[in-house]
Amino acid sequence: MELITANNIPGVALDFMNHDHQEATVLANSLYQLIETAREDRSALERISSELTALYQHNAEHFAREEAEMQRYGFPPYDCHKGEHERVLEEMRVVLGRWEAEQDLDQLHGYLVDTMLPWFINHIGTMDTVTAMFISNQK
Ligand SMILES: [Fe+2]
Ligand SMILES: [Fe+2]
Repeated sequence: MELITANNIPGVALDFMNHDHQEATVLANSLYQLIETAREDRSALERISSELTALYQHNAEHFAREEAEMQRYGFPPYDCHKGEHERVLEEMRVVLGRWEAEQDLDQLHGYLVDTMLPWFINHIGTMDTVTAMFISNQK
């Protein structure tokens, strides 16, 4: 089972952002599947840190690409959008630290399904959508 399919993600007016959102979807699905696998096969536990780190790393790069374009085109609510990115990266660093300390599958599953996923869909449908529209209108 997948956590999220490409159809669940709102498309925005800039291809590079759609591409990053697809990549985040693939990484989130593979982390989700690994959590399910680890419930039966404890050897999969070891791979969870690196999958979670890969998702964090992707987000850091994906957010930085959006921020660079917002600055290039003088997007007025830049601070607000960047602030959301920073909040989520900080949250993910806490989640990663907690995972490494406790290896609690239910807690990580809960974060992914109840916090990260709704945020991701909402963020794309709001801030990313408005940002992409603003930038594409300047081009
Ligand atoms: Fe985005
Ligand atoms: Fe964003």
